[in-house]
Amino acid sequence: MTATTTRPLTVQEAIETRVSIRKFVQEPMNQGDLREILRLATLAPSANNVQTWRAAVIQNPELQVKLQEVSYNQAQITSAPAVIVVYSDMEDALDTLEDTLPATMSEADRQARAAGFRGRFQDQDVAQRGQWGLTQANIAFGYLMLAARSLGYDTVPMLGFQPEKVRELLGLPEHVQFVGLLPIGKRAEDGFPHHRHSVERVVKFY
Ligand SMILES: Cc1cc2nc3c(=O)[nH]c(=O)nc-3n(C[C@H](O)[C@H](O)[C@H](O)COP(=O)(O)O)c2cc1C
Repeated sequence: MTATTTRPLTVQEAIETRVSIRKFVQEPMNQGDLREILRLATLAPSANNVQTWRAAVIQNPELQVKLQEVSYNQAQITSAPAVIVVYSDMEDALDTLEDTLPATMSEADRQARAAGFRGRFQDQDVAQRGQWGLTQANIAFGYLMLAARSLGYDTVPMLGFQPEKVRELLGLPEHVQFVGLLPIGKRAEDGFPHHRHSVERVVKFY
């Protein structure tokens, strides 16, 4: 399988050929493809359809230099034409729950459903429920990587950065929790071959 493709890869092909890429071809992202990758990620499932993930898309070399400085100087951040900063905003999700409910639902039902869901979190502090929201947002992060690969792009998921500094750089609220950074573009080098546990090593069958 080559790095670029003229048709979307199947899910199986995208999974098989996704590897972390840290050196990218120096050309801007096709903006239509970028939007499509982000749209596909919005289709990720989440508990109660709560949809906690949010993203900041950076396609600005100066800002990427600053982001790299707070990411242990990892060069893939400035090599990539774009970096998607994925985070979870559980507070915004809770404040706007009604938006996640189908328009076919009556107003009374929408309000009741939203109130019931908010009630589940009222005894948790912002950090605790933020952690719950993060587990939902991680699913969308996986979708982003595979959607990108399906359309012929490459990525590298990253948690090697200073969250407080990234928060400050992007002007994000204190309560948001980061899923990860995702430099994205076309590969300019090969990644490493997959080296994974076998199914037998990690799965018990009952
Ligand atoms: C949550 C997460 C955080 C990661 N953080 C970094 C990082 O900060 N820098 C980096 O170079 N790679 C990072 N990686 C990439 C892993 O090293 C890589 O996924 C793993 O070695 C498997 O290789 P593959 O992605 O090529 O299959 C991260 C991966 C994940 C899933």
